Amino acid sequence: MAEHSKGFRGFWPCGYQISACFPNVCLGRSKGLKSATAFIFFTFILIAALVNWTDINVIQDYPIFQMISARSINNTKKHHERIEFPLNCSEPGSSQKCPETYPTSFEPDEPSSSKTCPDYFRWIQEDLKQWKTSGITEEMIERGKPFAYFRLVVVEGKAYVEKYRKPYQTRDVFTIWGILQLLRLYPGKVPDLDLMFNCEDKSMILKRDYQGLNATSPPPVFHYSGNTDSLALVFPDWTFWGWAEVNIMPWENMLSAIKKGRQRTKWEDRVPYAYWRGNPHVYEERVELMKCNLSNKHDWNVRVYRQDWRKERKEGFKNSNLEDQCTHRYKIYVEGNAWSVSEKYILACDSMTLVVKPKYFDFFSRSMVPLRHYWPIRSNSICKDLKFAVEWGNNHTEKARAIGKEGSKLMEEFLAMENVYDYMFHSLNEYAKLLKYKPKISPNAKLVCAETMACSEEGLFKKFMEQSMVKSPSHKLPCKLPPQYEPHHIQSLLATNEDITRQVETWGDEY
Ligand SMILES: *[C@@H]1O[C@H](CO)[C@@H](O)[C@H](O)[C@H]1NC(C)=O
Ligand SMILES: *[C@@H]1O[C@H](CO)[C@@H](O)[C@H](O)[C@H]1NC(C)=O
Ligand SMILES: *[C@@H]1O[C@H](CO)[C@@H](O)[C@H](O)[C@H]1NC(C)=O
Ligand SMILES: *[C@@H]1O[C@H](CO)[C@@H](O)[C@H](O)[C@H]1NC(C)=O
Ligand SMILES: *[C@@H]1O[C@H](CO)[C@@H](O)[C@H](O)[C@H]1NC(C)=O
Repeated sequence: MAEHSKGFRGFWPCGYQISACFPNVCLGRSKGLKSATAFIFFTFILIAALVNWTDINVIQDYPIFQMISARSINNTKKHHERIEFPLNCSEPGSSQKCPETYPTSFEPDEPSSSKTCPDYFRWIQEDLKQWKTSGITEEMIERGKPFAYFRLVVVEGKAYVEKYRKPYQTRDVFTIWGILQLLRLYPGKVPDLDLMFNCEDKSMILKRDYQGLNATSPPPVFHYSGNTDSLALVFPDWTFWGWAEVNIMPWENMLSAIKKGRQRTKWEDRVPYAYWRGNPHVYEERVELMKCNLSNKHDWNVRVYRQDWRKERKEGFKNSNLEDQCTHRYKIYVEGNAWSVSEKYILACDSMTLVVKPKYFDFFSRSMVPLRHYWPIRSNSICKDLKFAVEWGNNHTEKARAIGKEGSKLMEEFLAMENVYDYMFHSLNEYAKLLKYKPKISPNAKLVCAETMACSEEGLFKKFMEQSMVKSPSHKLPCKLPPQYEPHHIQSLLATNEDITRQVETWGDEY
């Protein structure tokens, strides 16, 4: 995604490219030019900059003379010019309009997609299975209204939103923002659709309420997480575009900060205990976890810390930077009210993640494998299992490190923004295929675009939106959706994971 969102800084329409050079060192393949040529070239650039013909920042960013050299681009591969469309806030406040300048279609470099999406995309079909034979009628969608925070309609590539209620914080805002970025990434590719979105932690659409002879068919509603008792179309949560209230940057920025942060302490030099920091609140498992903390009575190899977000906010989030939390060899993941967005930040640390048996899943966690990506912990034996896991890891450092590495790799690869957008695309696309009617714009719905959302924001909200904004259409198609899981695939996946988990439990019991 870096390619799309960071765009083409330094791309010159005339076919020249400025390389990032520092005194005596040039990055890239550029060769030094004779000073006369360089001078002429520099003059040329200066004129270009003065007439605002190109990106002046490139020139402002670097000390000039040693820096500039030219390289002819003559790749055999066809290059589409990638023009950036930054936020265009021309009107004040609520009269901000959606500019008509953004492309309404895009031309990929290759006519078909060569890459197959990761396996976790196969759950998209599984979530939609309920409606596969019946299709989705407008009446079914309407029935989702009591569960929904907003309704979003896409017609001819434009998004229209009707808000029903205000969720906690700005989850809805950043979720809608994310969908708008998908529309910018693949203009003309997202089909017309009509959907209901629930911004709570968990789904309240219970399977058991829709069973029996007279049962009505359940409403299809998008959610951030699901579990085995409920129905949910599971979709990426708002934090991929940032969680401004608690200073958590958009995922792409957060991931690169964590990658830097985790290099500060080598695995061997990390504190050889299990770490957790968060809001213990009233959630049962978190309360249990608090009891495992070091005390004068016992040492379960666990070090947990309370996060007081109100205090953090007052003190400028000094102690809550996620990138400063890759200091322990083991990190604990435990659910809160339902799944927790902390999962990806914890797994990204390179530490072995100790996962307290989750009840909920998000869009990617169903494809995680115990002992490969994480170490499973029973929820009714938290302290004991944690103590064993830490001791095992300290006895088998190579293996523990490898599990930590695999977990991080999964976050970097599975959750590269490119995949997150492709997941959204396929999820919406498969959903739209089931619609039995042509979506129409309700009179209560408002046209939304990046400008109507971001121009009136300020502070971190605006900053995160600018950081996570897709500035130009993609140059490739979304990945290819792998075939749907057959029931026996899912059974064998679950059985394998259970077998591994049981094996770990047996080791724990014997210990
Ligand atoms: C670009 O490359 C092609 C094929 O390698 C060559 O035929 C052509 O002359 C080159 N054009 C320029 C401007 O160098
Ligand atoms: C910004 O939007 C206005 C209309 O809302 C348009 O006239 C103007 O050309 C746009 N500017 C850019 C740089 O796209
Ligand atoms: C289904 O509806 C009919 C008529 O309303 C009723 O007589 C019957 O008891 C219902 N069956 C179930 C299983 O609810
Ligand atoms: C857990 O123990 C550590 C070390 O004694 C202490 O610093 C920390 O505040 C404790 N955490 C909680 C939540 O009580
Ligand atoms: C770790 O090694 C020590 C010393 O060899 C041993 O006593 C202990 O049982 C081992 N623990 C685990 C969990 O492997």
